[in-house]
Parts: sequence; C-alpha cells; structure tokens
Amino acid sequence: MSIESDWMRRTHKTGELNKSQVGDTVILNGWVESVRDHGGVRFVDLRDRSGICQVVLPQEAEYEELVRSIRSEFVLSVEGLVRDRPDGMINPKIASGEIEVAVSKLEVLNPANTPPFEITESGQYEPNEEIRLKYRYLDLRRTKVQKNIILRHRITRIIREVLEEHGFLDMETPILTKSTPEGARDFLVPSRVQQGSFYALPQSPQLFKQLFMVAGFERYFQICRCFRDEDLRADRQPEFTQLDIEMSFIKEDDVRTLIDQLIARVVKEVRGVDVPLPIATMPYEEAMARFGSDAPDLRFGMELKDLTEAVSGLDFNVFKNVIGSGGTIRGIKVPKEHALTRKEITEVEEHAKLFGAMGLAWVKLEADGPVGPLSRFLDEPSTAGIREIMEAGDGDQVLIVAASKKIALTSLGEVRKLLGKRFDLIDENELNFVWVLDFPLLDYDEDDKRYVACHHPFTSPRPEDLDRLESDPGSVLSRAYDIVLNGIELGGGSIRIHQEEVQKKVFKAIDLSDEEAREKFGFLLDALSYGAPPHGGIALGLDRFVMLMVGADSIRDVIAYPKTASGACSMTEAPGPIGEGQARELGLVLRQPAED
Ligand code: AMO
Repeated sequence: MSIESDWMRRTHKTGELNKSQVGDTVILNGWVESVRDHGGVRFVDLRDRSGICQVVLPQEAEYEELVRSIRSEFVLSVEGLVRDRPDGMINPKIASGEIEVAVSKLEVLNPANTPPFEITESGQYEPNEEIRLKYRYLDLRRTKVQKNIILRHRITRIIREVLEEHGFLDMETPILTKSTPEGARDFLVPSRVQQGSFYALPQSPQLFKQLFMVAGFERYFQICRCFRDEDLRADRQPEFTQLDIEMSFIKEDDVRTLIDQLIARVVKEVRGVDVPLPIATMPYEEAMARFGSDAPDLRFGMELKDLTEAVSGLDFNVFKNVIGSGGTIRGIKVPKEHALTRKEITEVEEHAKLFGAMGLAWVKLEADGPVGPLSRFLDEPSTAGIREIMEAGDGDQVLIVAASKKIALTSLGEVRKLLGKRFDLIDENELNFVWVLDFPLLDYDEDDKRYVACHHPFTSPRPEDLDRLESDPGSVLSRAYDIVLNGIELGGGSIRIHQEEVQKKVFKAIDLSDEEAREKFGFLLDALSYGAPPHGGIALGLDRFVMLMVGADSIRDVIAYPKTASGACSMTEAPGPIGEGQARELGLVLRQPAED
C-alpha cells in the first residue's frame, strides 16, 4: 500500500450533513461503522467524532476490488454527491438520517484488523471491562464512551468559566513533593541524585494552595491530578482529578455560595435542570443519627431511629450489656409491603456485620402482637414505644442493631442503603445535593490509641471549642464541610488554621511532637508566622462529579485511561518491573517478590 500524501481532506463532518447540502459534492473522512450489502450495492455508515453518515460506495469496475476489501473500522476518505435518501430509508435517529452520499471517489486511508469487540453503537454485547481497558483506544472510539469524555471536557470548561468570572487564578503545584497527609498511603518516587530519599506524589495540593494564600494570590484553583495508594472502589482510583480551590478573607458561607453557583451552572448546562439554591445544609451529627452516614443519600426516607430508651427496661442481655457499656440501640423500619423473609433478613444481617454489627435483631409488629426472635423479650410498653418511635403500622418490621454509637449508626446506615436499592426507592434521575457541616475535628483511632484528624490536620477547630482541645479533644467540632450528591461525597474542604499557635496545638492533639511537627511541616509553621490571612477552600472530586452527571456506575467510565481494580493499566501493563541497572542508578536493591 502506498502512503498517499495528497489524500482528500474533508470538507464536512459526517454529523454535519443534512438536507440543506443536497446537490453539493462533499468530501468526508472517517471510520467504517458498518458495511451493508443490498443487492450488490454497498452501504457504509461512516463515523467521525460528530456522528454518522450513510455513504453509498461506487459500483464502477475500477473500484470493485477496493470496495470489496472494506471492513469495519477501515479509515476512508470519500467524495460524493449529497442526495435525498429514497423513501423508506430515512433514519430519524441520526442527524444526517434524511440524506446519503453517493460516492464517486474512494480512498482507503488505512485498513484495520477486526477489532476484539464491536465498536458500533448498536453493538449487542457490552464487552467485558478487562478487554475494554486493554484496547482502551478502541473502547474510546465507541460513541457512548466517547460521549462521557467529551462531557467531561464540557464540565471542566464550564468550571473554568465560572471561576474566571469570580477572579480565580489557575496555578500549578508540584507533583514531585513531600507527603501531604489526606489519610491514604503515598506513592513514592526514588531520587537518583539524593539516593535513599524519596519524593511523595501529592495526595492533594493542600499545603501548596494554603501557601499561595500566604503569598497573597487570594483566589486559586487548579484542576489537578492527585495520587492515593488506597484500596480501589467504583468511586476511587489511585490517580484521580480534583477541582482544587482556595480563597482568602472568607468564611464557610463564601465557599458554599461559590460551589452552589458552580454546581448549579454545570447541572443546568449538562442536565438542563435548575438546582434550587442555596443547597441545603445538615450537621454531621444529624446526618449520622438519621441516615447512618456522613454522606447521606436523601433521595429516600427509611430513617434510623433511637430505640435505646424504649427498650432500656427489657430483660434481654444483648441490649442490657450494650446500654450498660454506653452503647445505643437503633432501628430501621421495613414497611409491610417490603417485608423481608427470614432468609432475606439473614442476608441483611451479614451485610450489617461487614460494618461491625454483632447481629441484627428484628421484630414484626403484627396487629395481635410482635412476632420474630425478639418478640419474647418485648413487653407491652416497649412494643408500644417501638411502634411509636418507628411510626410503624401493623405488619411493618423493625431491624435493630445494638452496638457502640458509631457501629450502630454506620452498620444500619449501610443496611438502609442496601434496602433502599432493593426496594427500588431511589429515583435515579434525581440529583440531591446537601452540605454536611460541623464535623468533629478529631477521631479516636482505637488501633493507634491516639486522635487523628477527621479531615486533615490543617482544618480549623471552631473557635468556641478551642479551649477543649486538650481537655476533651473528641468533643471539638471543626470548620470542615462536605458537599454530598446522592449519597456520594463529591467534595470536602474547610476553613484552615491560619495562626501558628493554633496549628501547633492541633499537631499536639494528634500526638505529633514539636520535633516531628517541625520536621514534617516546619515550612508551614514558618509560613503561618509571616502574616497568613484567614483562608479556606475545598476540593471536588472531578471524576465523581462527571460520573454522577452522566449517570455512570463507575469513575472508570469517565476517566480516559483508568486503572483496573488492582491498580494496573491493562494497556501499557504498568506498573512493571525495573531492570538491575535502573535500580542501581537509583540506589535501590531489588528483592525477589515473595512467592504466593
Ligand atoms: P478530600 O480528601 O476530601 O479533600 O478529597 C476531595 C475529593 O476528592 C475526591 N476523591 C477521590 N476521587 C477518586 N478517587 C479517589 N481515590 C479519591 N479520593 C478523594 C472525593 C473527595 O471528596 N485537600 C482536601 C480538600 C480541601 O480541604 O480543600 C482533600 O483532598 O470526591
């Protein structure tokens, strides 16, 4: 095959053609979506980024061999006359569905092997993800996948527009850097020049953006890659993108107002609906108590209720012991129409156990009295109490967890999510945003026997709680906020500590000695001592935002080149081994990987 340098360049895009060009001669370039043979005449659906156009291949003898060779995914250049399609051949589903191009000149710009899966939109089978990711460039050629990536572009464009209107500067921060704690493991990069030393890839640009505020830039944003070596889930990748924002001389409501507007603009332009503003807020404590989650899905009810008082007098050891050791008894109602069988309850119990519950007690409130394993421990007042608190009618079931507050709420919260899906209570088209506020500053780590920062250690405590930082650290609330959409944490941020003394106190509260604090964050402490303005910000998970906007199930569907569940790139086969020579140069000694 010759390499033609003078191939016919397109005059139009395939999706651009319509009745108004009938009678014109046009040149199209694109891929063969499909070839159909109708009584010796060959029709090709030609595809480029803009869409599909039907072309009728030439029947002249000189083209016979070439026409016969054409297969799916060949790259063609065709010149021909735009004409009306014959009656009965009109396809209202595509923009160019009323016309076709009768080709008079045909060039094959490149042939193609048979792809490992169907690229066509009408492809019947969704290829498995492993093969899709191995041939991602073909997967990305599929209209439905390409659409997501194009929508991602539109969303970032809107974000940039809104932030430009609000005076934000797009500024970059380093990728080879020092660890910034966001709660995950770091990815490390060995230094060749300083052997034995490692850079950390940023888990977020947190400290650099704060230092931009100290430097006086006042409004920063960046659409940036972050790296976290953590277990993967449908909404997590080891490298992902944040819309990262920081502002000076602001308070919580300034950040909320900005993000409200930004979200409303994106949703309006992408989904065509108005988000009622301001987006509602809910204290963390309430989100946990009612929904068992700090990222509550408010698209359905099934709220958790506190049954501790109603059952406190019962002669049931499990409840007695839990209450005696400061725990709590919480319940969730399963309405009569969804009543679960014993087998189903056992499945739900297994689910609750994954989140720390020891078991799931349950009772069915029949008209003539309670039924189920718990019923023999219930007396009349407690049954009436449960009915009242759970707002339960005859035939409703109540599922109950007795445990520490944290476990009771989170495990029942997970049960709620499971049942919401199972009972089909969720309107998948709804976009339900909520701000969660008033998070605790610190969380007690039972394993390490010390407090850790709930968000990150640069989050400001509420000023009114500061004096309890030493005496009762667990009770101190922070100035952090999360924006939640449909039960998924879309973003999180906080007002930061801008005073050196306060920062030192918080480091101390998380058991960081002065020396450690200096060693790890000396540059921050210094910066705070040179006139740091009050400041705060937020980061939104861009992949999650796009995923929720397009209604995808996984962020892998909206990332051009995502990693598999084991953190690998199937296409390039990263991560890969390195050679002895490269290791030596970096001062690394390689150990044989342990045999399985
Ligand atoms: P945070 O750790 O909450 O905050 O991260 C902000 C948002 O980033 C998204 N996100 C992820 N998305 C995909 N894969 C991951 N592994 C992943 N991890 C996080 C989430 C999350 O809400 N520096 C702070 C922000 C700040 O305080 O301004 C930070 O990174 O949507």
